Amino acid sequence: MKTTSFPENFLWGAAISSYQTEGNNVLSDWGDRAGKACDFWNRYEYYLDLAKALKLSAFRLSFEWSRVNPSADDWNKDALERYLEIIRAIRERGMEPFVTLWHFTLPQWVARQGSWTNPKSIAYFVAYVSKLTEFFKEEEPFHLLTLNEPRGYLFQSYLTGKWPPQRKFAILASRQVHKNLLKAHHEAAWLIRQALGSRWKIGIALNLPDMVGTRLLVSAARPFSDWAVLEGVAESCDFIGVNYYFHDCLRPVPRWPFIATSCGNLPASDLGWELYPQGILPVILGCVKFGKPIYITENGLADKTDKHRPGFLHQSLIAVEDAIKAGADVRGYFHWSLMDNYEWGFKLGDARFGLYETDFKNFTAKPRPSAKFYKAIIENNGASGTFISGGA
Ligand code: BGC
Repeated sequence: MKTTSFPENFLWGAAISSYQTEGNNVLSDWGDRAGKACDFWNRYEYYLDLAKALKLSAFRLSFEWSRVNPSADDWNKDALERYLEIIRAIRERGMEPFVTLWHFTLPQWVARQGSWTNPKSIAYFVAYVSKLTEFFKEEEPFHLLTLNEPRGYLFQSYLTGKWPPQRKFAILASRQVHKNLLKAHHEAAWLIRQALGSRWKIGIALNLPDMVGTRLLVSAARPFSDWAVLEGVAESCDFIGVNYYFHDCLRPVPRWPFIATSCGNLPASDLGWELYPQGILPVILGCVKFGKPIYITENGLADKTDKHRPGFLHQSLIAVEDAIKAGADVRGYFHWSLMDNYEWGFKLGDARFGLYETDFKNFTAKPRPSAKFYKAIIENNGASGTFISGGA
């Protein structure tokens, strides 16, 4: 059986986002869909202890814009203080914080003015980022990710219309959103660098699918994915954040969106997403030409019974190690997610991505077998021979 080992300072992490875990984020454009979620806002110490129990050396979370800035010109000092406590609690447990500044949700007052279609949204976002830099500037530097998956948001919010603001086939609006998100990234990155200096590392988390098919199909599909975003932002980043979930076998079909992605012969997650952990290797290699350090900022699957997760994890990490051996500067891996949380567009508890299984009534969580497996990998800084044979 193949074994893996990683560079000495490799960061082992797990990722969550604010709206999906904190609970009561009712001032965002998602309203109260997530309810109390995991109640991370009040029980962060409990969950961070669970992260520590796995010996994680890094933890990715996001800040909720609508908490910090609940209405125009209104800044919630208590929320900022709480985030500071959370950052310190992460460090106290031996983990390096990675913070995403925008993970899909907008304050309602921004949404009412046209969300990201309104060019003013850029200035609103920059004001929020400026407030954060001012507040955190004396703190030990940490990694910042400006945005999470701009294309995924655009697709679900302006093409399928499944996410707020629920617009279907809004092609013109989606172009506007794309433009404004990129500008928001650039302005935020510039501001952070000016305000905080080069010890703070700036990146972005992109959903980069592994696409296979004819050259023509791949080049037709790429502009619709975050690969197109990467081309435009890599230069401005200190590191690239890779979220890997999808392996797309591209085929032409006679109906919208005219390209099918399903491979048809792979095992699937509880959400029907086809599992091909090995695809993370070509994705990482596709990032190498940008010459920046790479972090896998998300990788995981919905798997309530943990049938596939240990094998998936193992195969993914073998592929990450192969990428490192091939010369890629991969510095860390974050599993999505530490615990089951609210999944976008689903009922709380219906899609379970956690290493820990969450009880949403009592806000407790217990480790799935894959949590123990991940811990053993972390302890060895690699998956040594005695575990499972892999295969998702
Ligand atoms: C998002 C997460 C989400 C996960 C699973 C990623 O695209 O960043 O927020 O929960 O996928 O769908």
